[in-house]
Order: sequence, then C-alpha cells, then structure tokens
Amino acid sequence: MRQSRGALLPPVPAVRLRRGALYGALRAAVLDGVLAPGERLPSTRQAAADYGVSRGMLEEIFAQLTEEGFFQRAVGRGTFVASTVSRLSAAAQSKETRRFSPVPSRRGHAMAAIAACREPAVPRPFNAGIADTSEFPWKIWLRLQARAARELGRAGLDFADPRGLSNLRSAIAHYLAQFRGIHCHPRQVIVFNSAQQALHLLALLLLNPGDAVWIEDPCYLGARAAFQLAGAAIAAVPVDHEGMRVDIAVRRSPRARIAYVTPSHQYPTGVALSLDRRIALIEWAARNNAWIVEDDYDGEFRYQGQPLTALYSLDSHARVLYIGTLNKSMFVSLRVAYAVVPEEIVEPLANIRTQMDGFTPAVRQMAMSLFLDEGHFSSHLRRMRALYGAKRAALIEGLAPLAAAGWTWSSNPAGMHLLMSHERGDYVRAVAASSSLELALLRSYRVARARGDGLFLRFGALDAASLHGGIAALVAAASKVRP
Ligand SMILES: Cc1ncc(COP(=O)(O)O)c(C=O)c1O
Repeated sequence: MRQSRGALLPPVPAVRLRRGALYGALRAAVLDGVLAPGERLPSTRQAAADYGVSRGMLEEIFAQLTEEGFFQRAVGRGTFVASTVSRLSAAAQSKETRRFSPVPSRRGHAMAAIAACREPAVPRPFNAGIADTSEFPWKIWLRLQARAARELGRAGLDFADPRGLSNLRSAIAHYLAQFRGIHCHPRQVIVFNSAQQALHLLALLLLNPGDAVWIEDPCYLGARAAFQLAGAAIAAVPVDHEGMRVDIAVRRSPRARIAYVTPSHQYPTGVALSLDRRIALIEWAARNNAWIVEDDYDGEFRYQGQPLTALYSLDSHARVLYIGTLNKSMFVSLRVAYAVVPEEIVEPLANIRTQMDGFTPAVRQMAMSLFLDEGHFSSHLRRMRALYGAKRAALIEGLAPLAAAGWTWSSNPAGMHLLMSHERGDYVRAVAASSSLELALLRSYRVARARGDGLFLRFGALDAASLHGGIAALVAAASKVRP
C-alpha cells in the first residue's frame, strides 16, 4: 500500500485473519498511536485486498470502529482516524502506566525493599554463598532423573503429596539419623522447595500478629523477613562468641513464641552456639511452650572433627523445629529442603503449602531420594567437605597478614562463608568502598547499632582463580586504607 492510498494498516498473521482479530488489531493500532489521530485510512476495498479478506468484512469492521468513535467518515473524502482519539489514547496510556507503576502496600513495600535474598547469576568474589557445582556428579544425576521419571510413570505428572514424596521423606529421616544424630519418623519430615519456604510457612502457622520472635542479631535476612511478614514483633538478641545471648533474650522478651537460631554456624558471624546456651534455650522453650526454629542450613560442612550435633537431638521436650536444605549441599537450583516437626503440625503445614505453590515436583523428589538411598549424597558431601575446607583454609591463610591490623574472624571451622570483623566500623566501610569486590557489610545484617563492623565473605562457589584473585584484591584494599 502506498501512503496516498491511506495509512499503512498493521500486519495481522494470516491465520488470525478473522473478523474479531482484525477488528482488535485496528483498534489497538489506534489506541497505541500506530494509526495517528486524523490519519487517512485506505478504502475498505483496498484494505480488503491487502489483507486478502472480503470487502464485506472490512465494511463491517470500519462501521463498528466508526460507531465506537475510533474512526470518522467524511462523505466523499474517505475514512480517518478520529481526532478525539488522541485524548482517549492518552487516557488509556496513563491508565496503563498507573497499572504498572509499583504502588505497593506498606507490607509489599517493606518486603520488596529486602533484596538480600537475591543472589547474583554468576558467583563473584565475595558474593558466592552457593554450592560449587564443579564436582557435582552430573552423569549420575542425569541417570537418576531419568530413572525417577520412569519409576513414577505418568503419576509423576499429576499432583504430588504436599507433605513430600514418601520415598524422600524416608530417605531424609534415614540420612538425618546417620549423619546429624536426629532420630525422627519419616511422618515428621515435610518437604519444601527451600528453607526459606519452610520459614515462611512455620511463621504463618505458629504466630499471631504481634507475637514476639527472638532472632539473632545479626541475622539471616530471609528469616527476619519471614517473621516480619507473619506480623511478628521482632526481638533482636545480641550474638557473641558463643552465639545468641539467651540470658538477655529471656530478660527482655520471656514470652516470645519462637526463637530462631542457626546453632551449627551462626549466620553471618560463623560462631557455634555453646552447649550451655543450647540447654538454656531448650529449657526456656519447654517452660514457656515456645518453639525453637533451628535453621541448619550448612550443618554438613564442618572441616575438623564431626559435624556438631543438632539442637534437635538435645531436646526431649519436642520444642525444636528443625530445618535443613539440600540447596546448599547439592546445588542451588535443586529447590528441595525439609523440616522435621511434631507429626501433629505436618498436615496443617501441608494445607498451607497447598494455598501457595502446592508441592515440590515429584520427579525431582524421586531423583533426590534415589541419590540419597544409593549413597551418592554421602560421597558427594565428603568431596564437598574437602573442597570447601580447602577454600576456607586458603582464605584464612591469605588473610593472615591482616590480623596484625586488627582484623579477626571466627575459628569455627565450618560453612561456605567467613566474616572478618574489625572494631573500627568506619575503617571497614572505607575498605569496602575502596574495593571493586562485592563485599557485604556486617551491619546490613544487624538490627541494633553496634561498635565495629565486618566484611561478609561468601566463597562457596568461587573457583581457585577467582578465590585467589579475590583474596589478593581484598588484602590490597585493606592495606591501602589506614585503620
Ligand atoms: C541461614 C540460612 N538459612 C536458609 C537459607 C536458604 O536456604 P534455601 O535456599 O533452601 O532457602 C540460607 C541460604 O543462604 C541461609 O544462609
């Protein structure tokens, strides 16, 4: 079509050349401004020829658009896009903008402001707290996924049990008894996509708005967010070299409903909760019918001696709700985690789960249970312990020269991250600012103000080159700035 014969009409795929689709395309072209106000349209005969449809169809569409005010007909001169459409179109556009502009609720605003649970797509020094997949037994995993799909058959395509696949719940219970000293019935195990999901669901199930929850200060931000979303009153409890100060928490907020702790490897300071404090915590929970949420997110990774016994196994009062995740020990996009809870709250949790995302895909659960049952998981853990242990040792060796300038770090030989602290907060922040590394500050995990600050180094997924490059850059940055 040439312009003299009227405006170019928008292309519409031949298969969609029905009356409704063509009408919709022309109307949208006017509203979007593709056909401008006052622009002359081709004749219906021309348009019908261009689209390869009957003239009658175009007549009907033009008539309707004219009736609706999108087109105007001028006798003897042809059909034009109505000039009033510019106002209509502007109003429609501002409605669009309004619809897409982020005007969240107070809760939405508060939640959206927490971006700390988002990880970078590519691990970089020192923002790499996820699993290293370089030694993951990929071929075995592929084989087990195929086998899982075959064994489940078409049932694997249907709804799955929101509590988790029974094979996986048994395999997890068996693993926990063997490796974490946790003795539970498979019926107490409930499968989730993530530890984060377990935290959200437990908080929603157990808390009334306004209930107090002890969190560690500094704390894993995902946990704080989950309790806040459930309307909890957050009681931030200081952490020292023995973990949470249970004595302070009991004094300040004795009636709390939940105490959230990371006893094996406090997040982010890295300390282990001492036995005295573990006992004090359990006694407080038993006296007050409160719950302890034990987030054992990386308890498998201890590099000297045996993994620390879980708090769960010390508790004879059934007050500890244990959360474990396979997303750290396998690979981050596995999306399989679990909780061990009293049997009575498995069903309620499963009900709430069905109101969210339903369940964890069965094939993935089945593959994971085969991986556990066939002993691949324990071999993998052994390999990963050696790998992360070596990375941690290299990091500490590389940072050793900084000890003379007053830097300290936790001696708990565990996990995939290390916190290096300094009493001079301004110095820590100057080092972070002067470096191009991704260095999270300890203070972003704190609730209360405190003296000193720290650099939170997540090294799990770094390969040898980026680890060593990162260490050199960090030592250079910390030496350049004066404490
Ligand atoms: C303390 C803590 N809890 C829970 C999680 C989350 O695990 P998941 O990926 O299974 O939600 C993490 C992840 O870094 C963590 O550090």
